[in-house]
Amino acid sequence: RRPIILDCDPGHDDAIALILALACPELEPMAVTTSAGNQTPDKTLNNALRLLTLLNRQDIPVAGGANKPLARELIIADNVHGESGLDGPKLPDPAFEPQAVNAVELMAAKIAASDRPVTLVPTGPLTNIALLLAGHPELHDKIERIVLMGGAATLGNWTPAAEFNIFVDPEAADMVFKSGIPITMCGLEVTHQAQIMDEDIERIRAIDNPIALIVAELLDFFMIYHRDPKWGFTGAPLHDPCTIAWLVAPELFHSRECWVGVETRGEYTQGMTVVDYYQLSGKPANTTVVTGLNREGFVDLLAEKLKHYG
Ligand code: BDR
Ligand code: CA
Repeated sequence: RRPIILDCDPGHDDAIALILALACPELEPMAVTTSAGNQTPDKTLNNALRLLTLLNRQDIPVAGGANKPLARELIIADNVHGESGLDGPKLPDPAFEPQAVNAVELMAAKIAASDRPVTLVPTGPLTNIALLLAGHPELHDKIERIVLMGGAATLGNWTPAAEFNIFVDPEAADMVFKSGIPITMCGLEVTHQAQIMDEDIERIRAIDNPIALIVAELLDFFMIYHRDPKWGFTGAPLHDPCTIAWLVAPELFHSRECWVGVETRGEYTQGMTVVDYYQLSGKPANTTVVTGLNREGFVDLLAEKLKHYG
């Protein structure tokens, strides 16, 4: 089993990534930490606790992270995820407390104590991960890979050039991409292929166990923002679960090894991930850029794993 730490900002698609991860016997979630992003840090932490309470996994330690990005004010995505960050389904109140330590300390302790290298799976802004890497250089060798949702080679979804997670904290993302730790980047090119359609939501609802029903309700809400014709979507892009799917079913994906840098100063391009797709810079590749996906296989994987909650 592959030890992982989920650093997330739930968030509808973060929630589904967490639910998927906990249904995968290949993965061993050692901790869940929360970042400020889709909602304020108090709300994303509370949502992680509510989700693990729902899943009856109070055994997984949870800790809240930085209150704001490294060098900027926090921007939230309440237009996508609602007032709570997880609007839609009725979730239980948290039945347990977060750890007394913060996200960075919890990650560091878990990595230091692990007998195997740990994979980090960030699906929000990269603030906590950057603080971990800066504060604990001695742990870099014990981090196997960082499998993140963020960025894009050619698209933006928050500005014309930038994806939300990277835009919120570009300085943190810059530190992560420069760290030398192997990175898998699930950016918008692939996550926009991971569209969940109305009929997929009905298929998930028909699984008819309590967790599948919650996932269907999360998707009902998540669909609302993505129905705007400007996106040209048929469904809703299930960004964050791509990370977990890549870990357990890499055969569903296409990828390319590229150098990736983060723009922190551009007039129009702050938070853009600059992907050297054609090796023009001469810089060595630092990232496995995930570019393509077998959508049907991805939906099948999600539906199959959700049956485990029956
Ligand atoms: C990312 O931004 C958030 O709203 C989602 O949870 C996802 O992590 C997509 O740009
Ligand atoms: Ca997220």
